[in-house]
Amino acid sequence: MKSIRFVALGGVLALGLAACSGGGAGSGGAEGGTDAEPSDLTIGVAMPTETSERWIADGDAVKSQLEEAGYTVDLQYAADDIPTQAQQIDQMITKGADLLIVASIDGTALANQLQAAADQGIPVIAYDRLIRDTENVDFYVTFDNYNVGVQQATSLLVGLGILDAEGNEAGATGPFNIELFAGSLDDNNAHFFFQGAMDTLQPYIDNGTLVVKSGQTEIEQVATLRWLQETAQKRMEDLLTSTYAGGDKVDGVLSPYDGISRGIITALQNAGYGDSIEAGLPIVTGQDAEIASVKLINDGVQFSTIFKDTRKLAEQAVVSAQAFLDGEEPEANNTEDYDNGVKVVPSYLLESDIVYADNIQSLLIDSGYWTEEEVAAGQAD
Ligand code: GAL
Repeated sequence: MKSIRFVALGGVLALGLAACSGGGAGSGGAEGGTDAEPSDLTIGVAMPTETSERWIADGDAVKSQLEEAGYTVDLQYAADDIPTQAQQIDQMITKGADLLIVASIDGTALANQLQAAADQGIPVIAYDRLIRDTENVDFYVTFDNYNVGVQQATSLLVGLGILDAEGNEAGATGPFNIELFAGSLDDNNAHFFFQGAMDTLQPYIDNGTLVVKSGQTEIEQVATLRWLQETAQKRMEDLLTSTYAGGDKVDGVLSPYDGISRGIITALQNAGYGDSIEAGLPIVTGQDAEIASVKLINDGVQFSTIFKDTRKLAEQAVVSAQAFLDGEEPEANNTEDYDNGVKVVPSYLLESDIVYADNIQSLLIDSGYWTEEEVAAGQAD
């Protein structure tokens, strides 16, 4: 069993608590003693992939905020490869990590690693994506994922003129042809996004305002393994061939993530839908406010995205990590919704915003998330 060290940060009270904790969440590495500085504490941060700039922003934000708080950080990306991520976490544990922050690739694939972490009293925080099928996850920081799906569907309805920006009925009755895309089935979030979206769209499907022309409405039919842009582009191409070759037009596409949106848009442009919404592209939604998509929204090509401020998520991860390292429980604001199959994981949920062309300035530029130059260029500096 590892000896206790980081509780010294919290002073005598924390020391007393930790002394009773018997090596549960809160016991630290091998040096022992009560004079540990934060810099003696290493936090392993496992991120899924660097191919999506969203996760680069998360990794950067978590690392810099942890380092500001004085901790040593071991940040690893796994190129969306499940065994690589498992191995990276194994190594973090072997090298003496005092706490783990994990954004999983496959939320069900880390049970062995997390058992090892638990055996050594290393607290585990699931970052953005819930880790499933294990009791060895101590806390979850994320956004209100169901509401993200509601927002995605709402923006689709706004784009089609069915709702106005305030969410009131705006008069359009269609019928509009739409297609649905979901994320990766092994990512718990994909199910929350799709559920929130479908609960919002279903009344309009039921009353005939919206028509899913392909008939593909089950998440298993519309999912996109690993959230890959190319996979989404291929499915959109297939849909255009199978369902729209006779001259019917697609009016809207529910997309759960900006990378997927860009694949969909490329397929539509290649099929002659035009270069912008004005020129004939359907309404396409998104998520993450990735810079390439923010530019597309600014240029009238993609209609919307969902802004989840990765800086705030990182901050919440850091606050929660500090609580564990001080021998305390982090503050949760949701203890109901995130059942991982073994237990309900105490969670802290953040709010998200819908981005349209006309609020890029107020939501993304004024808050310092992207600069005007980055939006114009479509890439981060
Ligand atoms: C989800 C995440 C989304 C998006 C997607 C693809 O887990 O919540 O914001 O980033 O992965 O990376």
